[in-house]
Parts: sequence; structure tokens; C-alpha cells
Amino acid sequence: MTVQQEKASGPLTTESGAPVADNQNSEVAGLGGPVLLQDQHLIEKLARFNREQIPERIVHARGAGAYGTFTVTADVTRYTRAKFLSEVGKQTEVFARFSTVAGSLGAADAVRDPRGFALKFYTEEGNYDLVGNNTPVFFIKDAIKFPDFIHTQKRDPYTGSQEADNVWDFWGLSPESTHQVTWLFGDRGIPASYRHMDGFGSHTFQWNNADGEVFWVKYHFKTDQGIKCLTQAEANRLAGEDPDSHQRDLRESIERGEFPTWTVYVQIMPADEAATYRFNPFDLTKVWPHADYPRIEIGKFELNRNPDNIFAEVEQSIFSPAHFVPGIGPSPDKMLQGRLFGYADAHRYRVGINADQLPVNRPHATEARTYGRDGHMYDGRHGRAKNYEPNSFGGPAETGAPLWQPAAVTGYTGNHAAPSHPEDNDFVQAGNLYRLMSEEEKGRLIDNLAGFIAKVSREDIVDRAINNFRQADAEYGKRLEEAVRALRG
Ligand code: HEM
Repeated sequence: MTVQQEKASGPLTTESGAPVADNQNSEVAGLGGPVLLQDQHLIEKLARFNREQIPERIVHARGAGAYGTFTVTADVTRYTRAKFLSEVGKQTEVFARFSTVAGSLGAADAVRDPRGFALKFYTEEGNYDLVGNNTPVFFIKDAIKFPDFIHTQKRDPYTGSQEADNVWDFWGLSPESTHQVTWLFGDRGIPASYRHMDGFGSHTFQWNNADGEVFWVKYHFKTDQGIKCLTQAEANRLAGEDPDSHQRDLRESIERGEFPTWTVYVQIMPADEAATYRFNPFDLTKVWPHADYPRIEIGKFELNRNPDNIFAEVEQSIFSPAHFVPGIGPSPDKMLQGRLFGYADAHRYRVGINADQLPVNRPHATEARTYGRDGHMYDGRHGRAKNYEPNSFGGPAETGAPLWQPAAVTGYTGNHAAPSHPEDNDFVQAGNLYRLMSEEEKGRLIDNLAGFIAKVSREDIVDRAINNFRQADAEYGKRLEEAVRALRG
């Protein structure tokens, strides 16, 4: 250590605070001799290094985060009593994390994959997490299929690579994926940056107002930077040249003072319209056409502060679809219901039982008052306070006021599929999306799909995959079949 360094920051120490004499040469038994076990600093340094990582997220491992502000721009008190939405002009701190889904922590950003769009609102009634994607729909509609789906997106147990066989086998056998796959292989499938994409809550959620009235709601976040996407060829080049392209872009734009913003909209469905709506409004593979339920602008959020420490604030950040606040709750969407369990369970495994207490995760505008105690890395925050409830010592007590309104249920338990409404089938909205595209867009969609399907090794898997697109739109299927045949020769 130089004298200047020592003056600036004091001496280097071990983790127990003792001064370190030498950080360049380990202690040895005589000149040229073997290293000694008594070199505490060396042993501590190597052992800590071995433990620097925690398990990466099983999905959405790779992402970038930033803090910012959400501002209410419209009066929504007739729909929800959530306090952070209670007044035009009201501001709430947010933390956002954008991510890819299938790639591991070291993968490239510029790939064809949905993007995670996770938001944490630090409200005065607790943290509200909206853990959405940049797509309004998803591949499947029941949480029980999620682990199988993700296995097909990740590495094959034998080859160690993502396999076209597995991907198209699963999608072909899961026709409800046709809408999302059409979306993903279209022009918006590879965003040019995290700033140039929209976000969606994707699921339907419950809002309830001060009178106890229930509304079903879908969230939309429209980028104010404009949508920008990459073609497959542009993405292939960028992924190789700059694997960190998207996370670098977000950080650098905030450093430059160019703060990205999104305008927040909702679609609102009065509760009594759900049962008779032409689509099952709780089916995550479907959108609510804007003609049925127009978007209403309710706010804006801006990202304006980079995290100082990626590991502490981004890697250890946790988002859970089960983090609601009064006035907001779940819908019966079977995917959402599964996610209400899945995330907190992942957090307990990945970050630990005290993950909620880390600075990025804990409430910022209120405090958590629980009887949960102890466990790994507990910091003793509750001091001498009683650790049981009810108690006579002035500890926190239940409110008796549920966050959301109860839902009526009927019938028998069983492994039922989600109810089908008059216009529900797995293909109608995929076909509508295809027919909305320009001729050039359709051409790129067909090329992107065909390039991937052509890699499949078995004809039956190819046929089944193409057949789903044929059912969405006859021309769509025909063009895709021709393109795949041309590539397969
Ligand atoms: C039932 C289906 C699903 C299951 C079981 C599931 C499970 C998970 C798990 C275990 C994680 C990692 C959590 C962590 O380690 O912190 C995760 C991350 C994530 N999931 Fe899902 N997921 C599902 C569907 C979805 C859907 C439909 C969306 C979007 C609409 C979504 C968006 C995200 C996002 C954005 C993240 C990253 C959150 C972050 O930035 O930390 N997931 N998911």
C-alpha cells in the first residue's frame, strides 16, 4: 500500500478489522517455501471469493435495474382506493428491473426473447410489485405448464444447448402459445434497448374502490422514447460485438441525464361484465381488444437514478406478483395464481429468508412490522420486541381490512381447464395479429419462424408446429410451410 492510499482511506483490514500487512505476497515457510495455513488474510480472501455468487434467477437471470419516480396524472379513485394512486400529481419512488428470460446471467442482451418489465412501487401502504413483460400475452395459461415450458427454452440435458426440437415440440403441443409466438417472432421480438419497448402487467388484476366495488384491470406502459427494434441480422451482430448492449444503454442514458419515461395506461372492466365477455378475461394468452376496453391514461414513470452496486441492488432485488397493497389484488387467472406462490419461494431459496429486509427490497415509504424473526443474516431489527401475536405489549396488530374484495366461486374441485367464453380458441387472436401486419412485416415474421423451425430434426414436430399457424390463418400457415420446405430442401 502506498502512503497516499493509507492516508486517503485508512489501512486495509481483515473482515474482523485487523490491519493487513501484505496484500500482494502470501505468507510462506521461508523464502521459496510452501504457503502457511496461518495466513488468515489469504484464507479469508479465497474463501470469500468462492462464495461471491448466489444462485442466479431460474428465469430472467440477466437484467438491468434503475430507480425513478411514478407520477399520477388522472383521478382513478372511482376504481381503486390504493393510496399511491389517490391524487393527481402524487409521486411514488419506483425501482425497475428489465431482463431477458431464457439466457443465463452471462448471456447476450440482443436476443429474440420476451423482456421482463418488473416494477416496484415503494408506496406508503407497502411495496406494490408489478412483475410484467414487454408482451401483453404469454405462451401458456396454466402455471402447471411453466417448468416444462422453461425446460424447453433452456439447455437440453444431453446436448447442453437450446434445441429447436424441444422448443417446437412444446409449442406445437401447446397450441395456446400461437399468439405469443407470433408476437415474439414479429418485429417487436428483439427490442433495440430497454428504453425503446413497452411494458405490460399482462395479467388481469383486481382493483377495488372505497365503496367496495370491483373492477378488473390490465396495465400498459407505453415508451415515450418510441418503439425501436432490431432485425435478426442486426441482433446477431450486436450480441457478438456488445453482449451488454441493453444494460449499458440504460445506465449510460441515465448517466447522460436522458431519463427514459413511460406513460401508464389501464384498461378497466366493470366486474359484472367478466362472465359474459366474448373472451375469458383471465386468460393470459389473450388481450382485451382496445375497441372493447379503451386504454385510459393514469400516470407516468421516469427512471432517473442508477444503482450504485449491481449485486446488492439488482442481483439481490426481488419482485413478487403477490406483493399487493390495499385496493389492488389478484384475479382468478391460473397463471397469476401460480406466480403468487412461485416468486417468494424463489426469493427464499435464491436470496434467503431475510431478502425482504435488504435496502432495495424493504418498504421505503413505510416500515414492515411483522413477527417474522431470525434466520440467516437476521440483523436484529426487532430488538427486544415480543415475537408473538396477539400480545399485550403494544406490538403490531391485524387490521381486519382485506386488501382486495372476495371472489365468488362455485362448483366442484378438480383439474379444470380455464372456462371457455364464446369467442375463445387458441388461434383467433394470433390470426388477428398476423392480419394486422404489413406485407413486409409478415415476410420478416415468416423468415424468422422458418429459420428456427427448419432446424427441427423430426417431420412430425415440424408439421404440428406449422399446423398451429395454419389454424390461425390459412395464408400464414401456407407461407410458413413453403418457407420451411425451401430451407429444409
Ligand atoms: C406461472 C408462470 C410463471 C412462473 C412459475 C414464474 C416464475 C418465475 C421465477 C421463479 C422467477 C425468478 C424470481 C427470482 O428468482 O427472483 C421469475 C422471474 C420473472 N418473471 Fe416469471 N414466472 C411465470 C410467468 C411469468 C409471466 C407470465 C411473466 C410476465 C407477464 C413473468 C415475468 C417475470 C419477470 C419480469 C421476472 C424477473 C423479475 C426480476 O426482475 O427480478 N413471469 N419468474
